[in-house]
Amino acid sequence: MAHFVQNGYGPFVRQKGMRKMEEDRLIQPELENEGEERLENSLRPKTLEEYIGQDKIKENMKIYIEAAKKRGEALDHVLLYGPPGLGKTTLSNIISNEMNANIKITSGPAIEKPGDLAALLTNLSEFDVLFIDEIHRLSKSVEEILYPALEDYTLDIIIGKGPSARSIRLDLPKFTLIGATTKAGSLTTPLRDRFGIVHRLELYSEEDLTKIVKRSSRILDVNIEEAAAVEIARRSRGTPRIANRLLKRVRDYAAVLGDGEIQLNITKHALNKLEIDELGLDEIDRKLLETMIVQYGGKPVGIEALAATIGEEVDTIEDVYEPYLIQIGFVARTLRGRMVLPPAYQHMGYTYLE
Ligand SMILES: Nc1ncnc2c1ncn2[C@@H]1O[C@H](COP(=O)(O)OP(=O)(O)OP(=O)(O)O)[C@@H](O)[C@H]1O
Ligand SMILES: [Mg+2]
Repeated sequence: MAHFVQNGYGPFVRQKGMRKMEEDRLIQPELENEGEERLENSLRPKTLEEYIGQDKIKENMKIYIEAAKKRGEALDHVLLYGPPGLGKTTLSNIISNEMNANIKITSGPAIEKPGDLAALLTNLSEFDVLFIDEIHRLSKSVEEILYPALEDYTLDIIIGKGPSARSIRLDLPKFTLIGATTKAGSLTTPLRDRFGIVHRLELYSEEDLTKIVKRSSRILDVNIEEAAAVEIARRSRGTPRIANRLLKRVRDYAAVLGDGEIQLNITKHALNKLEIDELGLDEIDRKLLETMIVQYGGKPVGIEALAATIGEEVDTIEDVYEPYLIQIGFVARTLRGRMVLPPAYQHMGYTYLE
């Protein structure tokens, strides 16, 4: 059975263990638990106006949405990809909001059989948004049902079995599919090609993250010094979800050690206690860099070997650690494997020898 929630902001259908991630990492961009999910929903911007950063995407989406509304048509299908915690789910909800449409939320692994998807599709109303999270995890048989649905708003279903089986074609309402994935590379070409709008979410700048931290503080009703907001932003590895999580932890320190206001010195103290360094790297990032520097002597190393050496999943390294380490110029992807770069040596306290 496919599970989905009507009208958006209800509980997610993400199932426990759907992604193999470390549960106890503070900087893991994955959702931690239900409590965090509730917090996250309360901090979620509801309009494009409120959505901070990702300016290119916002500009484009604004135009597409307005044009679709003017024509009285459903918005073209949208694919959003990028590392976890950057706002794909948030943006999907906003898009349906701005279209004045209903959103139905499900995920790739939750749609087990073609019949599950058929049920979802036939229950849509005109202009509804169907949001499929982790869309790269749809099974092949389910995906094939999706092709004609996306292209012609039709559904081919087979009725009966054996020689008496026949195929009938149903018309579907004009709907918009929004697919989200952390792994665009795992999407099949035919599926990818059926999205008219494809956007990659980028890691956020320090400036945008500072705005996000300040906005979240306002919603949480806690005072924060400008410098403290900047400090949290700087250590959030470009990821709003991590920024919000750090803010929450720092708020606890401020409540216990201070008078509740989040000041710079308390922020630094708290983040140091949490073992998050000035760049937002944690113990596992450092282990990864150290392994590349010491054990592999700075030579290119295959992702599988690296994962095995530090005892992490390949997927976790690729989705969670690597994007940020690449962004800050510590690691590069080369044809011969992952390379650790000179700035990482310096940060880790090693001398880089040519
Ligand atoms: N542009 C933004 N402005 C303000 N807050 C944001 C923005 N993007 C994300 N957030 C905050 O970050 C949190 C995580 O965002 P979201 O759940 O949309 O990420 P995601 O990309 O769907 O992650 P995942 O890949 O794990 O599903 C949200 O609760 C929201 O509060
Ligand atoms: Mg999401």
